[in-house]
Amino acid sequence: MSRLVVLISGGGSNLQALIDAAQSGHLPADIAAVISNKKSAYGLERAAAVGIPSIFLSAKGFPDRESYDVALARMVREHRPDLIVLAGFMRILSPAFLDQFPGRVINLHPALPGRFAGTRAIERAFAAFQAGEITASGCMVHYAIPEVDAGPVIEYREVGFEPHDTLDTFAARLHGAEHELIVSATRKALRGMGERE
Ligand code: GRF
Repeated sequence: MSRLVVLISGGGSNLQALIDAAQSGHLPADIAAVISNKKSAYGLERAAAVGIPSIFLSAKGFPDRESYDVALARMVREHRPDLIVLAGFMRILSPAFLDQFPGRVINLHPALPGRFAGTRAIERAFAAFQAGEITASGCMVHYAIPEVDAGPVIEYREVGFEPHDTLDTFAARLHGAEHELIVSATRKALRGMGERE
């Protein structure tokens, strides 16, 4: 069975989608560990609740990004992942991390390919909709490269705006699309690697 390590920073609703899919057999993988850079990440509790090793790795005490990334890579490697899934992981990963797992790190971003890279993507897309600049946004999963929220796209989902949308109603619809996308894209990435039985 393929092994995943999932990196998170927050609520972990996308992690929960992966947990549910793995448990129901819709995703042929085991989640070997969940690691967060935020101690308060509710996703750590979601993992612990189902017996998945859940680890907080603070950035405090590391002098710079690279030294954190080296320590994170070492911790990740201990769990022998076939694929590393960034599911709402809100740190930029440097080559000090990415170069250790070539072609094996995928990232979920709540915008369409080439649009609204960086933080607050949902809010920025909604503002563009309100300004009449766009009629749809979406979410994507791509291979992580040093350039933020860029890299070869595995899959994306378009999510249209509706006339009476508020930021909250749109975000809820987008998060729902993410929860389906992250499972589908992870499965596709594993297939592309010739998943281990
Ligand atoms: C998702 O919208 C993800 O695309 C973004 O942060 C959010 C994480 O949500 N990077 P959750 O922690 O999985 O609930």
